[in-house]
Amino acid sequence: MEPSDIFLSLILAIFSLFCLSLLHRKQKSTSTTNDNNSSSSSYGDDEEELIRLPPGRTGFPFIGETFDYYLKSRKGFQFKFVRDRTEQFSTNIFRTSLLGQKMVILGTAQGNKFLFSNENILFRVWWPSMTDKIFPKSDNQPTNVHAKRLRDIISPLIHKVDGLRECIRIMDAVMKQHLETYWKGRDEVKAGELVKKYALALGCNVFLGVDDQNEIDEIVTGIDGIEAAFFAAPINLPGTTLNRGLKASKVMRSKIEAILKHKKTLLGSRKISTATPAAEIAKDFVAHMLSSVDENGQVLKEEDIASHLVGLIEVGYTYLHSTLTMLIKILAEHPHVYDSVLKEQKEIASSKHPSDRLSWEDFRKMKYSWNVVCEVFRQCSPGVGGFREALTDIKYDGYTIPKGWKVHWLLHSTHNNPKYFPDPEKFDPSRFEGDGPIPYTFIPFGGGLRMCPGNEYARLAILTFVHYLVNEYTWEQMIPDEKISYFPIQVPAQGLPIRLYRRKA
Ligand code: HEM
Repeated sequence: MEPSDIFLSLILAIFSLFCLSLLHRKQKSTSTTNDNNSSSSSYGDDEEELIRLPPGRTGFPFIGETFDYYLKSRKGFQFKFVRDRTEQFSTNIFRTSLLGQKMVILGTAQGNKFLFSNENILFRVWWPSMTDKIFPKSDNQPTNVHAKRLRDIISPLIHKVDGLRECIRIMDAVMKQHLETYWKGRDEVKAGELVKKYALALGCNVFLGVDDQNEIDEIVTGIDGIEAAFFAAPINLPGTTLNRGLKASKVMRSKIEAILKHKKTLLGSRKISTATPAAEIAKDFVAHMLSSVDENGQVLKEEDIASHLVGLIEVGYTYLHSTLTMLIKILAEHPHVYDSVLKEQKEIASSKHPSDRLSWEDFRKMKYSWNVVCEVFRQCSPGVGGFREALTDIKYDGYTIPKGWKVHWLLHSTHNNPKYFPDPEKFDPSRFEGDGPIPYTFIPFGGGLRMCPGNEYARLAILTFVHYLVNEYTWEQMIPDEKISYFPIQVPAQGLPIRLYRRKA
């Protein structure tokens, strides 16, 4: 957050406090006339005894406990936000108020199971309204309405084996080119900056079919601002983080829309049927999107496809940037882990000709390397978690989650809990051997019906990167105690400068 945002946030906070406490009082005096059809329940703190709301505090009107949540998140202590409250209230569930919403947090594996197993029964996905502003759609419907449509469209590409095989082909080619262009012949590099280039090249190749580096650089200018906007103060004035992020999103959407229009002209009247094999769709994903229809049989609008594509490229970029940069750091800090990863990857490399590309079967052999990545996800997951909305009054653990309240599931509340992961500070990939962690404790991609549809794409992209990098190089950190920045995502604060050593064959 910029200093200007902090200043404006404080003014907004004081003003909101004043207005909302007036509103709050007024609402209380008229509470008997509340509309029963409202999607959000009218239960307040006073009704706690009556319906047994989960224990907790809702902080200031509107702002609630958002500041404490943000402050802890920025320092990487998000799990403390949960632990402090579960300890104080001695429960597995507590209520709070975040982002202007009455909210419940279920901080345990049982809570995650309950949430993920009741998708569209008791809960539905909910996104903070900021998401709708950053990725707007022509019908002004919220992101959760469009998310299902998006899942259906991208599924053949990133969820079916044929589509993923095509992704592997692209990832292999992109990574080889990437090493040649940005790593070869260098003694020192900023690993974080290079990882960004890899993630963006992948996204633009896979989702847009664009492989020219200059064109990629042009399309993605300003993309870092988009991620920052998710966590920005809700003030859209010139110069604020939010304002910059919204502008960056608009510019990127219009560039992608121009690509779509051009592609449409080239395609002419050729339509791609829904029966097209996944591999063909993967080869021409843009054509697939342009001919995709919604549930009413209407072809999607180019501006909406562009908005979806910015979202896909942005999420892949942000999460891969964080995961791969933290992985490079951790491999430098744990040479024995690096050696074991190298052993596994060398065996795979030695079973192939240098010009061969990685195959689906090769990824199956990368068991240890994947355990290392999982431990990186556990300790420094790029995501925070997600949100749901209660579709009805829900009974859980003797308490009621009222209809319309939001539920926030947080990765760190289980990932950092010593009950599930003893000695959580220790980096230990062996936690993922055998049966691995207790179900619903390790949830980097979420769970249930809304589980991240990009999980396989992410796995293949990360392991491709690891395979080629460790087979070529070892490295050491140039700033051994480099600080970690947690905003907007978890990465070394100075971009992780490393000294590179070419491995001898
Ligand atoms: C390290 C990589 C990644 C991690 C850790 C990750 C994690 C997550 C998480 C935690 C969610 C929220 C799930 C929920 O609310 O229950 C999510 C949703 C989503 N992710 Fe990922 N993700 C990653 C990479 C990707 C990639 C590469 C793509 C696209 C190619 C992608 C596309 C999506 C989409 C479209 C959703 C929304 C799904 C829905 O609401 O139905 N993710 N991801």
